[in-house]
Amino acid sequence: MSFDRKIKIAPSILSADFANFGAECQAIEAQGADWVHVDVMDGHFVPNITFGPSTCAAIRPHIKGVMDVHLMIAPVDPYIDAFAQAGADVITAHVEAGPHIHRTLQAIRGAGAKAGLALNPGTPASAAAPLLDMVDLICVMTVNPGFGGQTFINSQVTQVAKLRAMIGDRPIHIEIDGGITPDTAPLMAAAGADVLVAGSGVFKGGSVDNPAPYGDNIRAIRAAAQKVL
Ligand code: DX5
Ligand code: ZN
Repeated sequence: MSFDRKIKIAPSILSADFANFGAECQAIEAQGADWVHVDVMDGHFVPNITFGPSTCAAIRPHIKGVMDVHLMIAPVDPYIDAFAQAGADVITAHVEAGPHIHRTLQAIRGAGAKAGLALNPGTPASAAAPLLDMVDLICVMTVNPGFGGQTFINSQVTQVAKLRAMIGDRPIHIEIDGGITPDTAPLMAAAGADVLVAGSGVFKGGSVDNPAPYGDNIRAIRAAAQKVL
């Protein structure tokens, strides 16, 4: 995985057809997705349950590019090796998920994956400050984690700008996750985000049998974001 700050669109398969993940991953990549964002939820850290490492391993062969696994689970540490072995390129854990985020990030890199740190909307950007040399990506939640299709939380624009200044020249991606559309993407791109996760914003109007809307949606979000750079 090489590093750059170009805008990358990462569709979240939380909005895909759960009975058809392989074909959905292939369809979004064929339609221009840069990364595939995989939301893992445990019904404990967040009020929803999705799936675990065996599903990630099953979809891995259907993804040519980056598999970006967002863990909304607590505890995290006992499962890191399983997600790394499932083929995750990036494993992101929440700073709020336990008392030992430093150890968690060490374990993610130790397992051979890129380390991501996610911040909930109620968590200040400064929570990332002591961890900057341990992370490859910071995920700023622009909704409360747990569900797709929620409304973008505007106050997170300031958080992204603060993180962008804090990061300086370090090779750290800023990812934003939740409520991303052609209307909200430019605010975040201008503030310094480079990885834009979008679930409902990409999958709306399409299906594996009619994937062209996925491409239209991806292009619309990318064009809106690039326009402000
Ligand atoms: C929320 C997830 C997001 C979500 C985004 O808990 O982490 O990745 O799927 O969905 P939209 O784009 O529909 O807000
Ligand atoms: Zn996510």
